Amino acid sequence: MMRKLVLGVLAVLAFGGAAAAQNYPSRPITIIVPFSAGGPSDVMARILAERMKTTLGETVQIENVTGAGGSIGVGRAVRSAPDGYTISFGHLGTHVANGAIYKLGYDLVTDLEPVALLPSNTMIVVSKNAVPAKSLGELLAWLKARPEPAAAGTAGAGSGSHIAGLYFENITGIKLQYVPYRGTGPAMNDLVAGQIDLIVDQLSNSINQVRAGTIRGYAVTDTKRSESASDIPTADEAGLPGFHMTLWSGLWAPKGTPKEIVTKLNAAAVEALNDPAVRKQLENLGLQMTPKDKLSPEALGEWQKAEIAKWWPMIKAANVKVD
Ligand code: MLT
Repeated sequence: MMRKLVLGVLAVLAFGGAAAAQNYPSRPITIIVPFSAGGPSDVMARILAERMKTTLGETVQIENVTGAGGSIGVGRAVRSAPDGYTISFGHLGTHVANGAIYKLGYDLVTDLEPVALLPSNTMIVVSKNAVPAKSLGELLAWLKARPEPAAAGTAGAGSGSHIAGLYFENITGIKLQYVPYRGTGPAMNDLVAGQIDLIVDQLSNSINQVRAGTIRGYAVTDTKRSESASDIPTADEAGLPGFHMTLWSGLWAPKGTPKEIVTKLNAAAVEALNDPAVRKQLENLGLQMTPKDKLSPEALGEWQKAEIAKWWPMIKAANVKVD
């Protein structure tokens, strides 16, 4: 009797899950962006969400849940129901670096289902206009000559801008004083206002300010110049060889989200990434589109694991203290 009851309950649960997956989505979907509105993560997420709703037939809204280098927002997504209605937007910082810096209370690999690898950003070294340097070489000389470390804006310990800063310190031997914000949107406001000295920023966040001349761009951290900022030299060209870093982003769902739902979310993301108008918007911000062979959920999962293996040793060696 009991066995029949248990089998009956399991059948109802399985049927219910399959029915939910089949009817998905039947209400608005929330993408949690773990940084402030107006920053590079938020801008990319909103561009994609706007197009994903066409495929999914439901509103795809953005919720900015900030703090602790993005780990608070990711934690909120991890602890959400695995029903496809709460998705985690993140990147190299939030879904790789934070695992080496914070006691997260969740596992970045086993507590999330990868959905799709999103476009990547080269980083760019930018400063306030008041810095008396006209080239990366002059900037490095200015930094070395300072009695105190320069103030470098970041989106918090473990954020992409922070990891890029650590890498910059490693490769130049120059110490920086980090100033954490809830995103590099607000950090950029302070850079333009001259309140901080520099950011090693995602190109998409700096490109319009560099074009407008409100901040100074020195070098990009890719092996080739960005087509949308072709006047900015690479770090290799500018005298800092080997300073290579691109910040990739991605979408994840909570562990246990049905595969059919992950497949629908992946299809919507891929359709957005293949949309010419979306591509134009993202490429104009200097973003590099995801390679076609890396668009599956499995590709993001493999990529994330490889990036953990690549970055954790340097990040752990930096012995970042978080309060
Ligand atoms: C960062 O990692 O620096 C963040 O992506 C900044 C942001 O998106 O606001």
